[in-house]
Amino acid sequence: SPVKVTKICCIGAGYVGGPTCAVIALKCPHIQVTIVDLNEARVDAWNSEDFKLPIYEPGLEEVVRKARGRNLFFSTDVDKGIQDADLIFVSVNTPTKKSGVGAGFAADLNYVELATRRIAAVANSSKIVVEKSTVPCRTAESMRTILEANSKPGCHFDILSNPEFLAEGTAISDLFAPDRVLIGSLQTPEGIAACVALKDVYKNWVPAEKVLTVGLWSSELSKLAANAMLAQRISSINALSAICEATGANIDEVAHAVGKDTRVGPKFLKASVGFGGSCFQKDILNLVYLSESLHLPEVAAYWRQVVEMNEYQKRRFAKTVVDTLFNTITGKRIAVLGFAFKADTGDTRESAAISLIRDFQDERALVNVYDPQVPHDQIWLDLQEASPRLPIEQIKKQVTICPSALEACRNAEAVVIATEWAEFREIDWEAVYKNMNKPAFVFDGRLLVDAEKLRKIGFKVTSIGRGE
Ligand code: NAD
Ligand code: UGA
Repeated sequence: SPVKVTKICCIGAGYVGGPTCAVIALKCPHIQVTIVDLNEARVDAWNSEDFKLPIYEPGLEEVVRKARGRNLFFSTDVDKGIQDADLIFVSVNTPTKKSGVGAGFAADLNYVELATRRIAAVANSSKIVVEKSTVPCRTAESMRTILEANSKPGCHFDILSNPEFLAEGTAISDLFAPDRVLIGSLQTPEGIAACVALKDVYKNWVPAEKVLTVGLWSSELSKLAANAMLAQRISSINALSAICEATGANIDEVAHAVGKDTRVGPKFLKASVGFGGSCFQKDILNLVYLSESLHLPEVAAYWRQVVEMNEYQKRRFAKTVVDTLFNTITGKRIAVLGFAFKADTGDTRESAAISLIRDFQDERALVNVYDPQVPHDQIWLDLQEASPRLPIEQIKKQVTICPSALEACRNAEAVVIATEWAEFREIDWEAVYKNMNKPAFVFDGRLLVDAEKLRKIGFKVTSIGRGE
């Protein structure tokens, strides 16, 4: 008999679980959606009366305002969420392992396993369990084994893989109009029925032809492959940016010319100080680990190079700053504009700004930071983690968090643009110039400023991928 989903539970109220299931609730008023998390502070923030949500994402607040209390609920009662639901998304974090076998490469599946075991332990009716987290291939198989070995009599579990492709900063528009929704299932009658049940949920707003149904392992691998290929484009363009700087070519012109080929396409070819975010590096390392486990060292080396190129780009940019400032930045004040890993998010995970500031600190520079969204506590946390040997008092002596871009640039020798926030396009550079020490340098890590205009004011400008 066809399964009709009326109650959904999402385990994990993070960057993916929160927006994804809030949008499901908005688009499916007939489905009750409960997002559960062990982190009480996070759940409280989702429930806060003044909508101070735990993550910043354009359009998210409006979605939550419309659905919360109607058919969208946030709770710390994980067990009740599981018991009530007919379909459960597992959307917990899967960071890179820090120790043990595969440390530094493999995904830490502990959170996925704990959530899965909890489902098995408390469920007293059959469920569709959907793997939403990004996981290595065959994780669904492990989840199935755990569920089957621990289930109560009469409880049947169907496992689906439904990876998420949203990008932070555009999560809501990505969820409203996804390029595709991918659902992987076992090709058994039960597996296919479960797949249809989830497809019916998406049908409430996603055109049927955009929902792709595939086998479980294809679905899991497609997610890693998509991120690897996106990151590979950035590493390719960043590798070319180094050639541009050495030859006098202009990376934006090169990217434009290359992207005009419809086989390549224009998107995701912006040279930068390096990609950040919680997933690209983690997912590629995961793919590297998978390749090595499968005894495919050439394949592993190929993908690893995408991450190595990114590390090189970040280091190269920091070195350019030092070299240009007459080979020393000791005691010099450097304004870093932007701390988030990209615009329109408060997320700082793997942000290039973190390694830049660490490198500047190692050179004993003074750093002023400004970001329009990132909470100050988060900046201190990230800088402490990046320099674990430095006491926080020492870090706070070297780094100042400023209330505006203009303030951050006051008395600085150099301005470094690390994040492409729209407001940095509106900066009054004449005013900035007046307040800076001379010669005043600008290092544009995001190809955001009009270098010629700034040079006319008097700045010495260095842009990624632009030779002089
Ligand atoms: P996150 O850290 O923001 O959220 C995960 C949440 O899960 C946390 O709040 C944590 O407290 C909770 N959690 C962990 N174990 C739990 C348990 N046993 N029971 C209840 N709650 C538990 O992570 P995220 O950024 O939302 O990423 C989640 C997954 O989605 C990852 O696998 C990631 O690779 C993938 N993904 C992320 C993005 C993105 O843009 N951030 C996009 C696509 C896919
Ligand atoms: C990325 C993918 O775009 C999503 O499809 C995927 O779901 C997600 O990872 C994930 O699995 O977590 P996200 O990391 O949120 O999304 O943001 P992106 O827009 O992909 O940007 C990643 C990094 O690459 C940022 O630091 C960004 O500034 C940088 N970037 C992006 C460039 O340097 N150049 C570009 O042309 C594009």
